[in-house]
Amino acid sequence: MGYDYTQWDEEVEKLLSRMTLREKIGQLNQIPEPKGREQIEAYKEKLRRGEIGSIILASSATAGNDQKRNIDIDLCNELQRTAVEEGPCGIPLLYGRDVIHGHHTVFPVPLAQAASFHPELVEACCRDTAREAAAESVHWTFAPMLDLCRDPRWGRVIEGWGEDPFLASVMGRACVRGFQGADPADEDSLLTCAKHYVGYGASEGGRDYHRTEIADYTLFNYYLPAFRAAVEAGTGTVMSAFNEISGQPVTSSRKYLTDILRGWLGFEGFVVSDWAAVQMLVRCGVAEDRVGCAKLSVLAGLDMDMVSGCYAENLEDLVKKGEIPEEAIDLAVRRILRVKWAKGLFERPYCRPRAAARKKHLDDARVLAAESMVLLKNEGVLPLKKGMKIALLGPFVREKRSLLGSWTLDYDLSDVKSLLEAMQERVGKEELGLCSDETGLFDNMAETVRQADVVLLALGESWETTGERRSVSDLALPASQRELIRRARALGKPLVGIFFCGRPLAMEGAAEFLDAALYAWHGGTKTAEAVCDILWGEANPSGRAPMTFPRRTGHIPLYYNVTSSGNFVNGYYGEEVYPCYVDSPASPAYPFGFGLSYTSFAYGEIQAERLRLSLDEFLAGEEFRLTVEVKNTGDRDGKETVQLYVHDRTASRMRPLRELKAFQKPFIRRGETAELTFCLGAPQLGFYTEQGSYIVETGVFDIYIGENCLTENKISIRLV
Ligand code: GLC
Repeated sequence: MGYDYTQWDEEVEKLLSRMTLREKIGQLNQIPEPKGREQIEAYKEKLRRGEIGSIILASSATAGNDQKRNIDIDLCNELQRTAVEEGPCGIPLLYGRDVIHGHHTVFPVPLAQAASFHPELVEACCRDTAREAAAESVHWTFAPMLDLCRDPRWGRVIEGWGEDPFLASVMGRACVRGFQGADPADEDSLLTCAKHYVGYGASEGGRDYHRTEIADYTLFNYYLPAFRAAVEAGTGTVMSAFNEISGQPVTSSRKYLTDILRGWLGFEGFVVSDWAAVQMLVRCGVAEDRVGCAKLSVLAGLDMDMVSGCYAENLEDLVKKGEIPEEAIDLAVRRILRVKWAKGLFERPYCRPRAAARKKHLDDARVLAAESMVLLKNEGVLPLKKGMKIALLGPFVREKRSLLGSWTLDYDLSDVKSLLEAMQERVGKEELGLCSDETGLFDNMAETVRQADVVLLALGESWETTGERRSVSDLALPASQRELIRRARALGKPLVGIFFCGRPLAMEGAAEFLDAALYAWHGGTKTAEAVCDILWGEANPSGRAPMTFPRRTGHIPLYYNVTSSGNFVNGYYGEEVYPCYVDSPASPAYPFGFGLSYTSFAYGEIQAERLRLSLDEFLAGEEFRLTVEVKNTGDRDGKETVQLYVHDRTASRMRPLRELKAFQKPFIRRGETAELTFCLGAPQLGFYTEQGSYIVETGVFDIYIGENCLTENKISIRLV
């Protein structure tokens, strides 16, 4: 385990033994930040009665969409002083905030960070973020979001790590390590919150908050692995999701919150609900009233009620009437107090305002933004050459706010450059010809464009069509932008599309008219500079698609780790003996793991120390050791994301045609060769049954090592 929360049990028991029932229930109650100083006295009165355990530094359910409000550090310290010095047990408050992908320095949205396939860099940037937020009273971030998502129509796809459980697990672990550091009690650390447990990303139709239907077999093999990684990394908290799974709201489900989360995953921290999710159980039709909401949730294993007030209003009576045992309250309080001790709040309850190393953080943001960007197409146009005359068109030429993406509350827009500003720092007026952020390409512009050597189109989606309550029904690039591409194409100049997006868009009607396409994402504070670093070749693009790019919306859900059909219609892999659709090919525009570089790489055949092992030897720890040579065959140094996929050909359950089980991202100088080794043990070749048992079976396993999920570079190994 990454952290042993039970180490604090002695201190916890001492404190618990001194607490009244009301004071215990107060610890389970989280309320929003005061809207203004006029509320302070009322807050202090509650604190003096021990009725508040935590304050969320947000004033609405959609913190990620609202205009930002800075944190009032003095106010936080003032309320904390009341809790510690005037509260009945002197238990410090826990301050939580959605510090998802940055604080004042904003990093790429998590989906973009996933494209970097660079967990160490993601961890370092989470550490930067923790330093900035912890310096402003934040103890606890509601991150990482670990919702596996196969439907980019869902606005919150940007907050997760894409469609693959292994990539999400690697990145979730990196986030917990980065935010919590070696010790969550460190002054610069933030407690993490693995969310939204579990299955929220499977909302039907990509419609936010809608129902999900997830069989246990799918849950164990796709939706839970990232939570296992976060628990093993030592996350202090988990957040219960809004969604139901097959008729059971997660927030009131003992199966998910206790049997699986505590029993199967071994989680020892505490569970907080999502915003007012406890009271929503009435609308879900599983509780008649707020009393029922409180009873169901606390008995299911939900420890802290985020802002609904159901716990504060009803738990004392429920205990006194004998409807719930006081032990259920004690259990929740223990978990919360453990985490407060782990955060070091009893030793250091107050925030020491201090400056953060913003320059380093901004430099890190630029590096991560560049490593996240995915070069989807390049027919000899990029990188640009010095002296080229450039025409810069499109609605994102001067855009700044959208580059930060959704779910950033404390951004500092003064640090953000538009693409135009970043380019003006690079090239002189004689090179940067026409610049227009008009969406149209009008006749009066055509002549100027014709004089250019290359046309750059700044395209994308607004941050306001991504995030919570911001799903879309159509993934196509806006019609006006597709029209701009077509008109620019007609002028016959090399055409580069730069996509500032939060989610993968449907590429039909866009990519085919471009000579080059760079997916820049909502890449954070340093997006524009990172784009220029790539355009002029100072950074060699190395991002890889963390999620499939569909041709059109109608193909969703379309994901790479799909099981085979009995018929010959594995459309993802181009097999369409009978067409999946009569009106379009069902293969992806760009598959999972796809991305180009300015150089090229050649893969050697996979070498294996041995091709067969007995199941007993294997389960005893023997491994398959595979090596592969990757040569940089181009004229420029670069990083290659070498991906290893497994296909269990015959098993007692249907297994995906490909499953990412390992990756490495070596830097290889031009002309040089890297020899990479991959070791395959039980974690790579087994799977979970619908009972949650992890099993490894005999049989043949096809192992693919290549540049994306469609690689045919394969070797077959066997367990006997
Ligand atoms: C929101 C989100 C959740 C967030 C919480 C607090 O509704 O679902 O991700 O952490 O409320 O803002």
